[in-house]
Amino acid sequence: MTSVPSPIELPAWRELQAHFGRLKNTHLRTLFAEDPRRAETMTVDAEGMRLDYSKNRMTAETMTLLLRLAEEAGLRERIEAMFSGDRINVTEDRPVLHVALRAPRDAVIEVEGDNVVPWVHEVLDRMASFSDRLRSGDWRGHTGRPIRNVVSIGIGGSDLGPQMAYETLLHYSERSLTFRFVSNIDGTDFAEATRGLDPAETLFIVSSKSFTTLETLTNARTARRWLIEGLGGDESAVAKHFVAISTNEKLVADFGIDTINMFGFWDWVGGRYSVDSAIGLSLMTAIGSDRFRAFLDGFHAIDEHFRSAPFESNLPVLLGLIGIWYDNFFEAESVAILPYDQYLHRFPAYLQQLDMESNGKSVDLSGRPVEWQTGPTVWGEPGTNGQHAFYQLLHQGTKLVPADFIGFCRSLNPLGEHHDLLMANFFAQTEALAFGRTEDEVRAEGGDERQIPHRTFEGNRPTNTILLDELTPYSVGSLIALYEHKVFTQGAIWNINSFDQWGVELGKVLAQRIAPELTSVEASSLEHDGSTSNLIRHYKARRKA
Ligand code: F6P
Repeated sequence: MTSVPSPIELPAWRELQAHFGRLKNTHLRTLFAEDPRRAETMTVDAEGMRLDYSKNRMTAETMTLLLRLAEEAGLRERIEAMFSGDRINVTEDRPVLHVALRAPRDAVIEVEGDNVVPWVHEVLDRMASFSDRLRSGDWRGHTGRPIRNVVSIGIGGSDLGPQMAYETLLHYSERSLTFRFVSNIDGTDFAEATRGLDPAETLFIVSSKSFTTLETLTNARTARRWLIEGLGGDESAVAKHFVAISTNEKLVADFGIDTINMFGFWDWVGGRYSVDSAIGLSLMTAIGSDRFRAFLDGFHAIDEHFRSAPFESNLPVLLGLIGIWYDNFFEAESVAILPYDQYLHRFPAYLQQLDMESNGKSVDLSGRPVEWQTGPTVWGEPGTNGQHAFYQLLHQGTKLVPADFIGFCRSLNPLGEHHDLLMANFFAQTEALAFGRTEDEVRAEGGDERQIPHRTFEGNRPTNTILLDELTPYSVGSLIALYEHKVFTQGAIWNINSFDQWGVELGKVLAQRIAPELTSVEASSLEHDGSTSNLIRHYKARRKA
C-alpha cells in the first residue's frame, strides 16, 4: 500500500486553515447576499437525489480547497483500491468489497483472481427462493403449519441494517407476515419480541457474521428453548424453524442449525456494510426478492457514481468534504441526521454504527496517534418530532451542530395536507437555521423589550438538504450507499482504517471476566478498581430481592 501523508501536512489542509481564519465569522446572510447564484451553483442533482449544500458556511473557494484536499490525500486511488479488491482493511488484512454485493450479474470483481460476483448471485438466488417459499406459505413449520412470524436475531451490523431497512420499507412489506427483531442481551428484548407468537408458526433467522457474538448466541439459545418447549420438547423442530446467516459454517453446524439452511457471506463484507448481503434475508422476505433487487440497484447506482463522477459533482465526496470542513476546521463535535419521513425513524441509529464504528479511530493506518479530529458523534431523530425536543439547542444553543435534512417530494401516505405541512417544516427549519432572526426584526414585531435577546436567532447554522422524489427500495439503497461512501471519503482523508472495530473488544473481554463473578454464589475476591468492585458487591447483595 502506498504511504499516505498526514492530512494536516497536505498543502490544501494548510490553505484551508488560512481560509478558515478569513471565513469563520462570515454569516450565511452575507454569503447569500454576495452571490445571488449560490443556491444554483451549490446544488447537485445525481442518481435521483438533489443535494443542496448552499446553506453551509463555505464559499466556492472553500469547496475548491476541499476538493484539492481530496486529490492530495489520494482519495481517487483509495476508491480504486476498494473497487479493485485490494486489502485496504490493513489491520485485518482483508479487502473491503461491499460494492460487490450489489454488482449486476455480469460484473467482474475479483478477490485474488476469483470473480466473486457469481458467488453473490448464487446466494441471492437461494435467498429469493427461500423468501418466496416463506411468503407463499410453502415453507411449513414442524407441525405442518405455514410460517407467519419471522424473528430476526442479531446485533450491530447484523441487526441495525435489516431492522432499519425493514422499518423504512414497511410500506412495501408483506403484511400477512409479522417481523420482529431481537438484539439486546437484555431478556426483555426476547420476551417482548416473542410475546403472543405461536412457536408452530415462527421462524428464527440467526444472523451473525462471526457466529461468536455473546448477545446473538445467548438469544439464539433462548429461542431454541422457547421453540422446543413450545412444540412439546421435540428437538427435531429446530430444522424447520431456524436458519442462519453467517460466514462461519462450522459454528453454525455446532449450534445445531443444518447448513442447508444457512446463507453465507464473506470476510470482505464488514458487519456494518452487510445489509445488502444475506443479512438482508428478513428484509427480502418482507418486501419480496424483486424489490430487494431494486434496493441493491439503488446502492449500485451510487457505487458507480462514487467511482466515476468528478469530485465536484460527486455526492458522497461532497458530503464527506463538507463534514471535514466542520469537523476539522470549525471543530464541531457532532452531526445531526434529521429525516423528514417517519419510515426513516431508525436511519440515524443505523448511521451511528456506520459512521462511528468506522471512523471513531485515534490512530492512523500506520498505527501513529492522529493529531487531527476524526469521526463525529452522529445522532438524530425524525422531523417534525425533533423540532419539539432538541431543535431549541440547534437554533439557540452554544454548540455548532451541522445537520443533514433528508426529505421526499411525494408521500407514501398522502393523507390530506399532511405531507405539505411536513415539508413546510422541512424547508422552514433549514431557512431558520441559516438566516435566523435579527434583533431588529424581533423589535419590529413589537412586544416585550426584555424578551428580545431570548427571541433573537443568530442563524448561521449549517445544513445540507437531501431531497429525493419518493421513498422506494431503490431510493433507500441509494441513500445508504451515499452515507457508506461519505464515511469512506472521510476515512480516506483522515488516513484511518474505517473497516476495523478494535474499540469494541475491551468491554467484551471485561464482561466475560465479570459474568462468572456475578453468578457465583461464593463471595469471590473481586480485583477490579474500587468503584467497579463496590458496584458488583452492591448488585450481588440486592439482585435476589
Ligand atoms: O461489536 C461490534 C461488532 O463486531 C460489529 O462490528 C458487528 O456488526 C456486530 O458486532 C455483530 O457481529 P456479528 O455479526 O459477528 O455477530
